Amino acid sequence: MGWQNPGRILITHEEIEHKVKEIGASITEDYQGSQVLLIGVLKGAVIFLADLLRCLDMPVEADFMALSSYGSSTKTSGVVRILKDLDRGIEQKNVIIVEDIVDTGLTLQFLYNNLWQRYPNSIKVASLLDKPEKRQVEMEVDYCGFTIPDHFVVGYGLDFDEKYRNLPDIHILEE
Ligand code: IMP
Ligand code: MG
Repeated sequence: MGWQNPGRILITHEEIEHKVKEIGASITEDYQGSQVLLIGVLKGAVIFLADLLRCLDMPVEADFMALSSYGSSTKTSGVVRILKDLDRGIEQKNVIIVEDIVDTGLTLQFLYNNLWQRYPNSIKVASLLDKPEKRQVEMEVDYCGFTIPDHFVVGYGLDFDEKYRNLPDIHILEE
């Protein structure tokens, strides 16, 4: 254990790299001839978004939102607030919400409903990780990297108390 090793590796950076390329190819194929706007949810999705962006062979824009979800604990409060909004409107855009992980689904449900009120053409969801065991609301992930069991994970953007985002692999946090 230590700062580089918060617990055992669940997904290696090679597996992530391969999966991100696959998702990028699917999106490129699905949106042929049009453009997309990736909306990254700060801060956890930043690294996934940065890698995914470079796997899209098409015109693409990126914007970011910050939402309150977890404080320093590993439990969700269920209350979602916008801490930073988008820089621009999304009318007629093909939006892809980019998340690090969908757990209870409360954050994603809030964002999804909020964005639909801004008249986009379409909204889809890309999430690197999906933890369906704790889902409280039904939310569909259109582009999912890995479905994982109910463990708290860190690395590749995901944090515990703002730490471990810089780890290349995804680890299970040891309590
Ligand atoms: P939800 O609202 O419960 O679906 O949680 C969504 C947010 O909680 C994610 O975007 C993450 O930022 C955070 N989160 C949920 N599970 C984990 C985890 O295992 N590790 C790190 N962050 C997590
Ligand atoms: Mg997040």
